[in-house]
Amino acid sequence: MSPAPEHNSVKVVVCGAAGGIGQPLSLLLKQSDLISHLALFDVVNAAGVAADLSHINTKSKVTGHGRESMDEALQGAHTVVIPAGVPRKPGMTRDDLFKINAGIIRDLAEGVAKNCPDAFVLVISNPVNSTVPIVAEVLKKHGIFNPKKVFGISTLDVVRSSRFVSEVIPSVDPKSTRVTVVGGHSGVTIVPILSQIPGHASLTQEQIDALTHRIQYGGDEVVKAKDGAGSATLSMAFAGARFTNVILEATVAGKAGLVESTYVNLAADSSASTQAFREKTQLDYFALDVEFGREGVSKIHALPKVSAYEQTLLDAAIPELKANIEKGASFITAA
Ligand SMILES: NC(=O)c1ccc[n+]([C@@H]2O[C@H](COP(=O)([O-])OP(=O)(O)OC[C@H]3O[C@@H](n4cnc5c(N)ncnc54)[C@H](O)[C@@H]3O)[C@@H](O)[C@H]2O)c1
Repeated sequence: MSPAPEHNSVKVVVCGAAGGIGQPLSLLLKQSDLISHLALFDVVNAAGVAADLSHINTKSKVTGHGRESMDEALQGAHTVVIPAGVPRKPGMTRDDLFKINAGIIRDLAEGVAKNCPDAFVLVISNPVNSTVPIVAEVLKKHGIFNPKKVFGISTLDVVRSSRFVSEVIPSVDPKSTRVTVVGGHSGVTIVPILSQIPGHASLTQEQIDALTHRIQYGGDEVVKAKDGAGSATLSMAFAGARFTNVILEATVAGKAGLVESTYVNLAADSSASTQAFREKTQLDYFALDVEFGREGVSKIHALPKVSAYEQTLLDAAIPELKANIEKGASFITAA
């Protein structure tokens, strides 16, 4: 692919750029020709990470910004990626993170409203089911919420699904086989639609149960193995870069037809089918396959046909997701 022309590149900000996810994510984003300015914001060590990455001979200028210069980091951003906050320790659920991360996300969303109200906002910080509604409610408060531009990055669930399925079905290529994962991004709210993958018919119910559980709780494998030293960072950086690149390819390079599962506000697609789904589930947010265009969401794909087993997973996911969404939204609306 030929490099994008100079005018066809934008400013991207990573908030939490010195963290376990932030550093490898920034490294991966440094490789993009669609980024002219990579601004790294963190409350610690942003300058060091920026100095290091700035020596890499790719197109983007890299700047580091500490606590006092959040506004400068965010000004004029096209895309803001947020892995800021604290990760899980053994025994903690993503929801346990809420108390700390909710305030961090609220303050960053205020920064977006002030400095780059048109930006795409890509949220990694957990619990994603609740942090995305927090961002949305802050932007609504400022009258600038555009549901086509705010996303929870659930790509790691998709990446894990492709990999884990390939370990059970040898004909599945982990790189090219995309599994649709719907619902939310924690525990039972993660619903992989395995019935749609090639070779599904060869799986026993026991294998489907085991795969589903592994995808829903894949994060726990990493938290346990790291034994107190954090949660998934490298695989998350890979997934975060993959999703950010899809957004940039669609919105900056104008590539049509790109589809990725992401946690999104269902108001982003006013079609009768999406609105009927919203009505039926009584949920404002849901992870579904989304097609992207220049303005962000161009179409939310309908929930694929699900098996009876997957329907039971959805039935368990919906009430939990509803509570997570309400918790996030009311953190702002009831404040
Ligand atoms: N979406 C996903 O699939 C997924 C996967 C793994 C982890 N996560 C989440 O991502 C987040 C980050 O994880 P990590 O392992 O990188 O944690 P980390 O502690 O290694 O890094 C977080 C970084 O955020 C910074 N930070 C804290 N408060 C900030 C603020 N107000 N402004 C800017 N930066 C701030 C910290 O200084 C730190 O450098 C956690 O919430 C974690 O649960 C999400």
